[in-house]
Amino acid sequence: MSFISIQQAMKRGKGKVAIRGWVYRERGSNKVKFIVLRDSTSRIQCVIKKDDFSKKKWKQADSLQIEASMEIKGTIKKDKRAPTGYDVSVSDFKIVGFSDTYPITKDQSSEFLLDKRHLWLRSRRMTAIMKVRSAYIQARDEFFKKEGFYRFDAPILQPSQCEGGSTLFEVKYYGNKTYLSQSWQLYAEAAVFALEKIYNMGPTFRAEKSKTSRHLSEFWMAETEVAWFDLHDITEFAKKEIKYCVKKVAKECAEELKFLGRDPKKLLKIADKKWPTIKYRDALKVLKEKAKVNISFGKDLRTIEEDKLMDHFDTPIVVTHYPKEIMAFYKPTDSKHPDEALCFDMLAPEGYGELVGGSQRSTDIEEMRKALKKEGEDIKSYEWYFDLRKYGSVPHAGYGVGVERVVAWICGLENIKDAIPFPRTMLRWKP
Ligand code: 4AD
Ligand code: MG
Repeated sequence: MSFISIQQAMKRGKGKVAIRGWVYRERGSNKVKFIVLRDSTSRIQCVIKKDDFSKKKWKQADSLQIEASMEIKGTIKKDKRAPTGYDVSVSDFKIVGFSDTYPITKDQSSEFLLDKRHLWLRSRRMTAIMKVRSAYIQARDEFFKKEGFYRFDAPILQPSQCEGGSTLFEVKYYGNKTYLSQSWQLYAEAAVFALEKIYNMGPTFRAEKSKTSRHLSEFWMAETEVAWFDLHDITEFAKKEIKYCVKKVAKECAEELKFLGRDPKKLLKIADKKWPTIKYRDALKVLKEKAKVNISFGKDLRTIEEDKLMDHFDTPIVVTHYPKEIMAFYKPTDSKHPDEALCFDMLAPEGYGELVGGSQRSTDIEEMRKALKKEGEDIKSYEWYFDLRKYGSVPHAGYGVGVERVVAWICGLENIKDAIPFPRTMLRWKP
């Protein structure tokens, strides 16, 4: 008999089945042992009766501990009292891997669970989140395939910054130094003049000094770059991408989301609405008039202000035209409003902050040189990037999505650390 998943076994609902997995729960008496077995698909109660086995075999069953791995053969039937509505009356079993006393018991602190993350990943909660993350990434790949994009990969070790020198991780590089990637973008701007429509997803590193529930030192950024696109085109495209992914995940992972306390229908509703685009100046007005928060033009919106702003929206919104002065060097000046840049952020509702950051790209080499010099950058290491503007440059635009931010929002997580299997922050880099 070949093994089937627990979900398949329950679909069958009757007859002989062979399943395998890990002991999720166990309890017993001197006559019978109840095991809830889990695999990646579900859980099911299995009943081992002493009378059906030799003394030696019964001893094995009796000593089974949580997380032991085993194979089970038996007869499945409906049972209302069982945790998932079915149980298996066991006719034979084999212990594949014994388990010591499992260190994770009820009501552990979140720090303890982070120390034991290698084991905590097996929990229903982490399994559900990992499934949502996987579904989201697969949905995104599907979206870009449909849209006719090429996947393009950039180096992780890079000679210079893209998003400001203060959060770079330096890496020794044979007698020289290099940095871990802050963004795929600058290299994408080289490839976009060959492939025109490109995307990717890769590990991204920022030495963030802030210990917030939204910042990781290592996260995954899902980036896009498109030739011939201006700011308006790119913001509309970003909305289309996120809406597509949210819908797909809400449908595919409805069970997981419900388990996490998130209503998939609510997400579907949000994805069907129109997501507004407003200018930074208008965002300041909303803050002033509705939230009584006074911010003068030229200040970046901090987390707390983003949250106050988003109290007045029930869908993600796009905010464009941030002050040029405080934006990264590659974000172009709006010729109609020279104090504004042709850039945008997408902000999530419900306190999940900035999901996406992007812009049209500057084609003004002198302006970029000036901005980089002001930041104290060595202009020489950007000459290759300026070359891109010298040989047949065209308008182009792109953005980066914070994968963990999106996963945290979709799942309704309290902390971004649960949106990635092994989080890295200022204070945590193990296991
Ligand atoms: O807004 P950011 O810094 O944009 C860029 O890096 C551009 N070069 C992307 C591009 O245009 N291709 O980062 C993009 C997104 C943010 O909106 C946020 O969602 C996420 O990346 N992000 C982080 N996520 C978790 N932890 C951090 N420390 C993050 N920093 C940025
Ligand atoms: Mg940003």
